[in-house]
Amino acid sequence: MKTKLLTIEQCKEAGAILKKGGLVGIPTETVYGLAANALDGKAVAKIFEAKGRPQDNPLIVHIAELSEIEDLVAYVPPMVYDLADAFWPGPLTIILDKSEIIPDEVSAGLDTVAIRMPSHPVAREIIKASGVPLAAPSANTSGKPSPTTAAHVMHDMDGKIDAVVDGGPCSVGVESTVITLATRKPRLLRPGRVTPEEIEEVLGCELEIDDAVLGMLKEGVRAASPGMKYKHYSPSSDVFVVKGDFEHFKSFVEKKATENSSVAALVFDGEKLSCRTLYFGEEDDDLAHAAKLFDALRTCDDEGVKELYVRCPSSDGVGLAVMNRLLRAAEFKIIEDL
Ligand code: TXA
Ligand code: MG
Repeated sequence: MKTKLLTIEQCKEAGAILKKGGLVGIPTETVYGLAANALDGKAVAKIFEAKGRPQDNPLIVHIAELSEIEDLVAYVPPMVYDLADAFWPGPLTIILDKSEIIPDEVSAGLDTVAIRMPSHPVAREIIKASGVPLAAPSANTSGKPSPTTAAHVMHDMDGKIDAVVDGGPCSVGVESTVITLATRKPRLLRPGRVTPEEIEEVLGCELEIDDAVLGMLKEGVRAASPGMKYKHYSPSSDVFVVKGDFEHFKSFVEKKATENSSVAALVFDGEKLSCRTLYFGEEDDDLAHAAKLFDALRTCDDEGVKELYVRCPSSDGVGLAVMNRLLRAAEFKIIEDL
């Protein structure tokens, strides 16, 4: 299959492909999504094939208007309207009990469905042009870092999908915050740009944090969100998160680099090393870390980096999402006490 690269002026064409049951890579404010008509089980099944995604990992359904949610879920709890008021359109996904029109391919056999209203104008235009809600996971090969540019999507999906719409780099850079309202108490399943504190302020109650958000999934514990049990964001390079100050980091990594030429460092702006160095923003800029992390991991893969040492960012605010992705990319390899 020849994958067309479309411009943002060609949203109608993207919508037409989706309406006919095709697959299109679309820009959103978080990461690029791999979209299909969410109401067409056959079209959705092709997403799993293109990504090599495990069949039991459900997809997020993207809508352009709040009223569209009513047909997709069994019941809309009042909390949803408060959250929508505060965060939609935007990088928040809400899990609710699903309605009958959601195909099993979308919910992967669960009784629930994840809904999100993206804020990216191109995503919204494509949803409207298709005339249907769009199921869309991140548009990467399953297990690889999520794509934040159209070039990343082409790298993974060229020849496997109908088209990619190039909307430029994604502003947030990590996937949406996922919460479930299908449990007794609201619970955070995946951290993102919308922080737990911001959600609690709107809900006026506690947001439980799932154990898997920062820690390793404990053996025997059922994953609340199937996506959390898979190896994720995993570049071919071996990633290590290094705690401590820059002076110790520098001497440790530069020594590694003399032993092995394919060593790289991911550090804060202004920090200088003698080996290959990538930057993810000022030390206190959690938004920059989020925006740059996946691109840095993909760059390492492209350059054949074997070992990547990363300065440990703060996990406050959006840093919680950055650490969640980084720890998975590193398979929880943390170096302390240098
Ligand atoms: O920002 C985003 O959310 C991007 C863009 C494209 O919108 N999408 C995205 O989708 O990250 P994906 O499929 O890569 O991640 C969705 C996560 C997975 O961990 C999945 O297991 C979880 O949400 N999920 C989806 N439906 C669920 C459900 N019904 N119950 C529990 N977890 C669910
Ligand atoms: Mg994903």
